[in-house]
Amino acid sequence: MKNYALAVLFVFISCLPAQAGLPKVLILATGGTIAGTGTTATQTAGYKAAVLPVESLLAAVPQIKELALVAGEQLAQVDSKNMTPAIWLKLAARINKAFSSGEADGVVVTHGTDTMEETAYFLNLTVKSSNTVVLTGAMRPSTALSADGAMNLYNAVAVAAERASENRGVLVCLNDQINGAREVTKTNTSTPDTFRSGDTGLLGYVQGGKPVYYKATVRVHTAQTAFDVLAATTLPRVEILYGYAGVSPAAAESLVAAKADGIIYAGVGNGSIYEEVLPVLKKASAAGTAVVRASRAGNGLITRNGEEADDLNGFITADNLTPQKARVLLMLALTKTRNPAEIQEIFLSY
Ligand code: SIN
Repeated sequence: MKNYALAVLFVFISCLPAQAGLPKVLILATGGTIAGTGTTATQTAGYKAAVLPVESLLAAVPQIKELALVAGEQLAQVDSKNMTPAIWLKLAARINKAFSSGEADGVVVTHGTDTMEETAYFLNLTVKSSNTVVLTGAMRPSTALSADGAMNLYNAVAVAAERASENRGVLVCLNDQINGAREVTKTNTSTPDTFRSGDTGLLGYVQGGKPVYYKATVRVHTAQTAFDVLAATTLPRVEILYGYAGVSPAAAESLVAAKADGIIYAGVGNGSIYEEVLPVLKKASAAGTAVVRASRAGNGLITRNGEEADDLNGFITADNLTPQKARVLLMLALTKTRNPAEIQEIFLSY
């Protein structure tokens, strides 16, 4: 009798769908070229981004069902040049809910590549879970010869479904490469190998449906951060000023007049500020606007009290964050404090 019962149990288990036991991966679609369509197979510029619904993205890659129990949801449908803090907040809320309710073990966000790095870093600072979040997209629309979206989506699901991806902060996965949200940036207007992490390098590769990692993520991220945007409907207003030879102070003056909460100065070299802009920024800082010195150079640390008298002027330095990432961090830092010394500590930890 006992043997009979065991045999029945064995037959039952072997008849379960192959998918049982697979991790649950939620795919949140937000638009971009991965959902874009052109008029010919050779059109790789001037096509329309953010057209296809999430169902079409999933239907194009049935192989993802071998990696995970996949569900799809259309969270937004935008060309990522039109990405907004309101959509960031919606994404963070949806991801946090999916993880806290047990609805998903991992999340993939499909996104336009133009501002993917900003959304990735925002989520890196606001998702309250060690579960994996991966952003992916495409450089070629779905209709193009050698479109990269389907393989990028397959790889992103493979990364999100794998336990080894956890506790690494939010990841960006395109072109078989896995980069960290804090470091990655789009470096080429058109080629599929556009995402790079500068001097600090990528975290790993994905091949044959498996990620391979070479590095840990050391800066504070996700569940360890102090930021909680659950109840937020807006974020502080932070703008970026660009430095160049002979820059007029007009843009700086207009940001001060517009009462920006914070200004990122994308300075030359080591975050140096043009002499005619410096008095405007000093005045802004004295009046309570957070002023962060970053660099347009793309790599390297900003030396505190190096090129500028930061202590004296109440300026904050951006560590090695690009101006656009420094903006994301300052927006969140300003939800916690307006004290420049405390904001500086945040920039040195995150
Ligand atoms: C976009 O960022 O939405 C358009 C460009 C792209 O996805 O590559």
